[in-house]
Amino acid sequence: MTQVWHTVAQWRARRRALAGRSIGFVPTMGALHRGHSSLVERCLGENEVTVVSIFVNPSQFNDPKDLERYPRTLENDLALLERLGADEVIVPSASEIFPNGYRLRVEPASSAQVMEASYRPGFLQGVMTVVLKLLGIVGPDRAYFGEKDYQQLEVITDMVQEFFIPTKIIPCPTVREQSGLAESSRNMRLSPEAKEKAAGLFHALTTAANSAEARTTLRAQGFEVEYVEECWERRFGAAYLEGVRLIDNVPVAETKSVKF
Ligand code: PAF
Repeated sequence: MTQVWHTVAQWRARRRALAGRSIGFVPTMGALHRGHSSLVERCLGENEVTVVSIFVNPSQFNDPKDLERYPRTLENDLALLERLGADEVIVPSASEIFPNGYRLRVEPASSAQVMEASYRPGFLQGVMTVVLKLLGIVGPDRAYFGEKDYQQLEVITDMVQEFFIPTKIIPCPTVREQSGLAESSRNMRLSPEAKEKAAGLFHALTTAANSAEARTTLRAQGFEVEYVEECWERRFGAAYLEGVRLIDNVPVAETKSVKF
């Protein structure tokens, strides 16, 4: 049976009792979908104990309205984690994670100050800071992150190496709907028509000859494009549909990029 912990002190007492067992960790902000299920399933297969956190981290939202609108579905999330067989779920309040406010922060390297860092000031800093705290609290052997948030995965991998944190970061493939749309908690906010259209982001990233062509295609389909750029041998895109911000990325080798 899944056990749920609301305070860091209670969880830490439990963590001491788990000493000697391999611990896998899936950090989430809730509103769980098939992408999260795939992380939890992989974690269950590779560790003796699977720990999931559900924490909507205020420090990674640069827009207070975005934080307010972020979907919260705790009851369903806990029921799903129980069905999947997760062992421990940590659901802390903001004051548990930030007892002294947002006082100390981790900064991404200057080479990562692109794309998400440019369009969402403070986002990567907020993610790195909370992940560092969560890794400190959970002390996992392995932590699982989806490749959909590839830039997040990059800066976390960098942070763990740089700070000698003894957790292996495991990248997991993006889970997609049949249409190609990447699973995301934000998809819940799309109307059925917009959800159909939203798959256009994946298709534009995959089929365009270059980033400029992908941007043009997306604009023609009604997306409000923030960026399409190539980095780390992948093509990344961020665009709004019905006011919902969607991101995705694909390996350049899987696109129709013009090769010279
Ligand atoms: O990817 C997410 O859901 C969040 O950014 C994370 C890693 C749980 C940190 O809040």
